[in-house]
Amino acid sequence: MSEKIAVIGAGLIGRAWAIVFARAGFEVALWDAVPQALQGCRQLLQDNVGDLAAHGLIDEAAEVVLARIRTADSLADALQDAILVQENVKETVEVKREIFAEMDRLADPKTILTSSTSWIPTSEFSEHLPGRDRILVAHPVNPPYLVPLVELAPAPWTSKATVERAHDIYTRAGQSPVLLNKEITGFLLNRIQGAVLNEALNLYENGYASAADLDKVLKDGLGLRWSFMGPFETIDLNAPEGVLDYARRYGHTYRDVAKTQPPNEWKSETLERLERERREELPAEKLGDRARWRDNRLMGLIAHKRNQEK
Ligand SMILES: NC(=O)c1ccc[n+]([C@@H]2O[C@H](COP(=O)([O-])OP(=O)(O)OC[C@H]3O[C@@H](n4cnc5c(N)ncnc54)[C@H](O)[C@@H]3O)[C@@H](O)[C@H]2O)c1
Repeated sequence: MSEKIAVIGAGLIGRAWAIVFARAGFEVALWDAVPQALQGCRQLLQDNVGDLAAHGLIDEAAEVVLARIRTADSLADALQDAILVQENVKETVEVKREIFAEMDRLADPKTILTSSTSWIPTSEFSEHLPGRDRILVAHPVNPPYLVPLVELAPAPWTSKATVERAHDIYTRAGQSPVLLNKEITGFLLNRIQGAVLNEALNLYENGYASAADLDKVLKDGLGLRWSFMGPFETIDLNAPEGVLDYARRYGHTYRDVAKTQPPNEWKSETLERLERERREELPAEKLGDRARWRDNRLMGLIAHKRNQEK
């Protein structure tokens, strides 16, 4: 019998996780506290899996993948016999505390409990639970069936065995796990995204360039390399003798520039100006179409990356 994963919360991220696990051959039980969310999700799952099939990103017929996803009658029903539970409910500490207390009470002690939270460290919602050694954050990127990174961010009391088992399960599900050695708000990805946004907002606010040109810096510049190598590998290759050589040549310049990069205050005047510029570029009624275009571009890129050497 296939191993079972429970996915709690059938919103944007929960549905996407259901596809990740089902695509990899796991049985998935999906549950949501709001019955309409569960009723509405079948069509959305079909649309997303259909898009993946159209791009050659699933190895089986769409119906075979979809048949592995069933909706559960209750939280207890979803958790029964699951090897791992992926929680995807509302992003507040109170709600996470409540759902993890309930899941810790209901789930078999061997079941790993993970949260998709984008910002909240594991210790903030697991500290007082009897099963806290089997709880950790597994933060995905939207949508995880296209973007494989998952950030594993355990609390100091999460057991090593739990982390190793979770790492193995996400790897077998086709994801690319990274491990945080210590807890920090926002984990790795959102902190790095925050640093980029901070500087882009500073440059925009102070009139150095238009929003469109700042977007181009990433999409026609840095982003091209970043889709297959990170900033450290980039600098390792950008000086003939590697990282230390790069640092000798340019380190002092980066250090000086960093002193002119203060925290951006996300001022409403700046954001309203940015909103106006974006709406001239893309009217509000076209946001949905453009998101679908983005997902199709991503699927094309993932299909290309699959055929390349690592
Ligand atoms: N949206 C993103 O880009 C993104 C990316 C990474 C991580 N996350 C994280 O994933 C989680 C879910 O985000 P989302 O964007 O899918 O939200 P969403 O609003 O689309 O879905 C949340 C779902 O949880 C259900 N729910 C609320 N309380 C519940 C409860 N107590 N028990 C069961 N179900 C409950 C709601 O009915 C809803 O269907 C959040 O913690 C978020 O930070 C989101």
